[in-house]
Amino acid sequence: MNKPVEPLAPGAARCPGPSTAEIIRADGDHPPAHLTESSYSFIGDADIPFSRYTSRAFHELEKEKLWSKVWQWACRVDDIPAAGDYFVYEITDKSVIVVRTESGEIKAYPNACLHRGTQLKPAGSAGRSKQLRCPFHGFTWSLEGALTDVPCRWDFPHISDDNFHLPELRVDTWGGFVFINFDPNAAPLAEHLGVLPKHFANWDLSAKFTAKHVRKLLPANWKACLEAFLESYHVLETHPQGVLTVGDANSQYDIYGDTVSRFVHLVGYPSPHLKESFSQQQLLDALMGEGVVEGIADGATKLRVPEAQHLPVPVAAVPDGLSLPAQRQRPGFVHFRSAVPAARARFRRAPGAGRNGGAGFRAVLP
Ligand code: FES
Ligand SMILES: [Fe+2]
Repeated sequence: MNKPVEPLAPGAARCPGPSTAEIIRADGDHPPAHLTESSYSFIGDADIPFSRYTSRAFHELEKEKLWSKVWQWACRVDDIPAAGDYFVYEITDKSVIVVRTESGEIKAYPNACLHRGTQLKPAGSAGRSKQLRCPFHGFTWSLEGALTDVPCRWDFPHISDDNFHLPELRVDTWGGFVFINFDPNAAPLAEHLGVLPKHFANWDLSAKFTAKHVRKLLPANWKACLEAFLESYHVLETHPQGVLTVGDANSQYDIYGDTVSRFVHLVGYPSPHLKESFSQQQLLDALMGEGVVEGIADGATKLRVPEAQHLPVPVAAVPDGLSLPAQRQRPGFVHFRSAVPAARARFRRAPGAGRNGGAGFRAVLP
């Protein structure tokens, strides 16, 4: 049974046990200062009206005040590596073509023909095109957005090349991500990103590539979907198989201005919900056994981890005195399921196992 909680100042409650910052500092790895700093102030805990997630009027407000104003990630730079490569980005009722021009620049145009508004490229499409030609009557623009062809031009004396140049949206890039903004007066992307570039200075996202892209259409308001990925509170119930290898209740949340928030979530450290202590070898075995890290074994003391995985370095050295489980020591990609019995004993199969996307275990806590 949970004990009642002593009232504290609003926003002051913290999980008992070591904080994320204390654990990182104790690691003795000289982490960058921002990893152990905190940036938090209480911004209220009033209920959010249900209608924020369901009301058409609120959605219209978001279109007007949010989506038409903010920098938003449209695609990756390597989605459009060569001249003529394009990617159609859609948000609310807007559609945008992001295109690589002949000179190698990235430009973004509204995906609408200036004649009668036909989409120049199909919704959700990507590909390569020498030019942007409307599929209805054939008005054509260069990759640079210049009008190059109008069938029966004699019948259009009122248009000029100048006033039929494709309008351009704001475009900028960071970390290999292409961002667009519908607001010509928006502050620069760098201002929107705030501390992000500094925090990622040692973790170059532009050097990464998309190994796998999974899309899923969810029958829910976008905020409800996003919020599920902004907290670790659900780990205990939804992913209890991971409690030996992730800090959950002591994850640290920070707010940096209006556009950046972060949470720092430790992998390889047991949940503060667990009362007993585990050896480093047990934790390593559990980390390997629960599939938190997929990698390629490289002898008993090194694990090469693919780019897309969580570890901040491609080679993770196993600490002195510990070794990878035997099945992880062989070169080659290893898929693993074993875990230390002590960790397994903490879980029991739940009815309806696997239905919620987790592995179908429930934590058995003291
Ligand atoms: S609508 Fe595009 S050419 Fe007519
Ligand atoms: Fe989750």
